[in-house]
Order: sequence, then C-alpha cells, then structure tokens
Amino acid sequence: MRNVELKARDPDPARTLERALALGADDRGEITQRDTYFAAARGRLKLREQETGGSPLWDELIEYSRADSTDARTSTYRRVPVADVASLREALDAAYGTLGTVTKRRRVLLWEGVRIHLDEVEGLGSYLELEAVAEVGSDLDAEHDKIERLRAEFGIEEDDLVATSYSDLLLGAPSEPGPGADELMRAADEVMRTAYAPYSRFPVGAALRAPDGSIHVGSNVENASYPQGQCAETSAIGALIAAGHTRIAEVAVTAEKMDICPPCGGCRQRLAEFASVDTPVHLGRPGGPRQTTTIGELLPLAFELE
Ligand code: THU
Repeated sequence: MRNVELKARDPDPARTLERALALGADDRGEITQRDTYFAAARGRLKLREQETGGSPLWDELIEYSRADSTDARTSTYRRVPVADVASLREALDAAYGTLGTVTKRRRVLLWEGVRIHLDEVEGLGSYLELEAVAEVGSDLDAEHDKIERLRAEFGIEEDDLVATSYSDLLLGAPSEPGPGADELMRAADEVMRTAYAPYSRFPVGAALRAPDGSIHVGSNVENASYPQGQCAETSAIGALIAAGHTRIAEVAVTAEKMDICPPCGGCRQRLAEFASVDTPVHLGRPGGPRQTTTIGELLPLAFELE
C-alpha cells in the first residue's frame, strides 16, 4: 500500500481538533499505541500493540519505507496482523535487536480518505500527522492536493514540519559521541583492512549509520590510473544506497596512518547530499584520539539545488 503523508509539531492540538471537526472530519476516537522498532536491514520495521478505552485492539507488524523529507512524501508499507505479539517481539528482538519503543495517544479523524492523527507522543509532545491513503494505480496528485488543502486549513508552519519518524526523534543518532560512535568507529576500522591502496599505501575506512540504526561501510579503492581511485566515504555511500537507504544519520572515518583523517572536499559534498548540517562525523581511531564534528562544520555554505 502507499500513502502521501506529512508530519508536524502541533503547538495547539485543541485548535487543530476544532478545525478538523469544522471541516466535517469523522472523529474515530482515541487509541493508545505502543510501537517497538527493530533494526531492519532495509526500511523500517515496527510491532504495533494498541488498545482503546482499556480494551485491546488488533496488533500488527508494519514494514515501511519513505524518504526523510519535510515535504509531503510518499510512503510504501505493509501491515501484517499478529496473533501472538509477545512471542513475535522476542523473536524479532533476538534476530535483529530492538532500537526502542514509542508510546503515544492517538486521536484518529477521517476526512475525504485522509487520516488525521492528533498524536500525544510520550517524551516528545504534540504532533499532527496527515496520511492520504492512495487508491491502487493513483498518480498521487489527488492525495497531494488533499494534504496541501489540509495543511493550509490547519495553518501548519514550515518550521513545525518534521522529516523523520517518532523513533528517530526519540532514539535518533546521538549528537554527542556515545556508545554509537565507538561501534561506528570499529566498523570503519574493520573495513579499512579491505582497502585497495597499493599506490598511496594509505588505507581508509568509512562507516555510515542509516536512520534505522543499520551500518554501511566502505574502504578506498585505488587505480593504476590514479584519478580513477575512489575514497572510503564514497564506497560507503554506495553500500548505503545499495541497501535501500537515502539518509545518513552518523559518520565515522578512520585511517591507519593518521590520528584524524578529515574527509576530502569531494567526499564532504557527497556526504552532504544524504546528511543534515548537524549530522555527527567522528574522526579518529578506535581507542585513540577522536574528534567529533558535523557535516555543517565540514562543509559550510554547501551547494544545494534547493
Ligand atoms: N582517502 C579516502 O579514502 N578518504 C579521505 O577522506 C581522504 C583520502 C583515500 C584516497 C586515496 O586512496 C588515499 O586516501 C590517499 O589519498
């Protein structure tokens, strides 16, 4: 299934509810949802347990992928009914590892095929989510139009738009070097050993964390025609894209012969394509000196088409 969706912080949920009802939206009431996120190899995987007024509703496994963007974006997803939620949670945790849980109270309203979610997310606050579920074969124009109309009706400000999932907001990549940075640096160090660098004899390893927590690695690959060689960061970007991701949440780079190996100019631009200005970049050696900077610091005044 596919839908077009938009998510934003909601400074005034009571006013949003009033406006939705004034538009004639159908109020489907409130549910409590507890989502457990797992470290999927591609896209996102969450197990949803829900209840309403103290009575359990159905549980489901939801697999989905979407671009991290503040624009109304398309998401493709699968929903699978779950009979034994506790056992499935244990099995998925054993196989993939749990990233964390997100609990929210959700008020659901329906307006012309658009699901309006007024979410009160534990630890995050109030959010408004719009989801236009697409008809099979739809070119999505009608769905985008409806989302735009609602965005105007609710007066959603540009600054309040949110690009990532609640799990990323709650459990997102640490901006301080934490245990995540060590793990990423070790991954960079491990792949550095695969470098093909017979000309420079300067092996480099890079590890990129995708928003779902998965790690993608690459080393430098040189060539007898020197300019044809490619850097470790570029190899790692190829691996991340090949695994189906389009966003970088955290970066680590290590070089055998240098305490701190700053990415070259070209790689800063390549990383910036998939990262944000505040994406952390860890430079150093496992167990050695470490410097943590950001993409914005490495590439100020970056060239972007938008
Ligand atoms: N290199 C990288 O892989 N990443 C960097 O950030 C800097 C340089 C590689 C390219 C070449 O294979 C070798 O290091 C020496 O320049």
